[in-house]
Amino acid sequence: MLPTVNFTETAAYKYLADHFININEKSLKQLFAEDEGRFEKFSLIFEDILVDYSKNRIDDTTIALLIQLARECKLDEAIKAMFSGDKINQTEGRQVLHIALREPADGEILVDGKNVVKDVHQVLSKMEKFSNAIISGSWKGYTGKVITDVVNIGIGGSDLGPVMVTEALKAYKNHLNMHFVSNIDGTHIAETLKQVNPETTLFLIASKTFTTQETMTNANTARSWFLEKGAKANDIAKHFAALSTNAKDVSAFGIDTENMFEFWDWVGGRYSLWSAIGLPISLSIGFDNFKQLLAGAHSADQHFETSEFEINIPVLLGLIGVWYINFFNAETQAILPYDQYMHRFAAYFQQGDMESNGKHVDRNGNDVNYETGPIIWGEPGTNGQHAFYQLIHQGTRLIPCDFIAPAQSLNPIGDHHPILLSNFFAQTEALMNGKTKEQVVSELKKEGKSDEEIDKLAPFKVFEGNRPTNSILLKKVTPFSLGSLIAIYEHKIFVQGIIWNIFSFDQWGVELGKQLAKSILPELQDNNDVSSHDGSTNGLINQYKAWRS
Ligand code: F6P
Repeated sequence: MLPTVNFTETAAYKYLADHFININEKSLKQLFAEDEGRFEKFSLIFEDILVDYSKNRIDDTTIALLIQLARECKLDEAIKAMFSGDKINQTEGRQVLHIALREPADGEILVDGKNVVKDVHQVLSKMEKFSNAIISGSWKGYTGKVITDVVNIGIGGSDLGPVMVTEALKAYKNHLNMHFVSNIDGTHIAETLKQVNPETTLFLIASKTFTTQETMTNANTARSWFLEKGAKANDIAKHFAALSTNAKDVSAFGIDTENMFEFWDWVGGRYSLWSAIGLPISLSIGFDNFKQLLAGAHSADQHFETSEFEINIPVLLGLIGVWYINFFNAETQAILPYDQYMHRFAAYFQQGDMESNGKHVDRNGNDVNYETGPIIWGEPGTNGQHAFYQLIHQGTRLIPCDFIAPAQSLNPIGDHHPILLSNFFAQTEALMNGKTKEQVVSELKKEGKSDEEIDKLAPFKVFEGNRPTNSILLKKVTPFSLGSLIAIYEHKIFVQGIIWNIFSFDQWGVELGKQLAKSILPELQDNNDVSSHDGSTNGLINQYKAWRS
């Protein structure tokens, strides 16, 4: 059982509320001026990842109080509970063991007395064999040709992780063409099927439950297409595999359970890229690289499990996030990778974070009286700079940003990388320092503007600065470093969920829309007007029926 402390009733919270008044009056510039050792103090190096959190509106007292808060909320007990396989997903009665998916083969994590690490490694061996056979071409399609294209059909956690990682690690990829179909919109599968040949295509049906409407509809369309193109039912075994926890429905679909890669209900969908759901990753970059991804994550798991809170990266990042959300009233958190390959990183953590911590009921079953999970968003730099950074610099809202960049480019062409990185450094500096009225006036004077013009223009050109950022500098994006980085963010979400006293590993909120869609679908089968809903929903359905043909 997880602790159930209301963090707003702790002593640390009260001290933080007082302390906030002091910090809120200080600028980041001042904080740096007061403390020469600030960077050394507020940055950590873990493996080949530097996390600089010094450009945050914090000082020694803030960190000490936030850590006190974590202690009062019994974060240490919660971490132990997760790592030792307690059923901390209490509303679903399940363990939360994505950490077991990256545990080395000789490890032991017990679920109901059984060491699940053994099961994990059995599936990993099966994934290794299968990946090697597909990549080497020893696996042949129904006409004897090698597989050239892989189509992963899945949605949410059964799509976003593999998409994000295969994109982020594209530099490591082999000859296989990877495709991902998630949307129920027929356009997604139709456009994908145009690009592939049934004789040389492998379909992976990725669904933890194997009941998700979007995935099963797309899977059925793919199977019909495959058969319409001339293949026979018994050819399905060579071209369809399932990544799932539901063996019964997998075999009812017609997939040989030999081609089923199993995982378990103690793996949350949004934490599943490390499981059989990662098969497209292993196919795309090879099993050895997939193993490195797991090893990087495991290393971050150990860091999280064993490091003192003062030097524990996910704990610090999580607590600093709480500081902004609950004291500065920040509503969003931007994730800004300065790495084109990582262009789906923010989208991935949109699900990871928002599906986990988008909750308003605490672990005692009561409505919370404080804010919980932030809105996660972001795009790669420098594109974002030319789109939405204006609001981050000069808008009315405080938007904490995570800047992420590799020191080494995987495509070192000319000056591209130094230019990219100069933008990364410049943005975090500009967000912190802003531009004072004096600087603006002197610049305008240099441009030869009159005093009158300067008076008019100056207010618009002043940047107040004081906008907080974390800078995460990776030596290089490798399967290992990416694995660590993802795990750091996963554990940050865990930390925040514990402080907010919410359950981070269920997602009841997405069920209502699913149920309603299922009940509306039969009403769309005929052309009769509906009147069973509210006025707006009736009006929309009836207009759709009038226009659809
Ligand atoms: O819609 C929410 C959700 O349950 C996610 O949590 C999950 O990742 C996704 O649907 C897909 O579920 P499944 O893997 O069972 O198809």
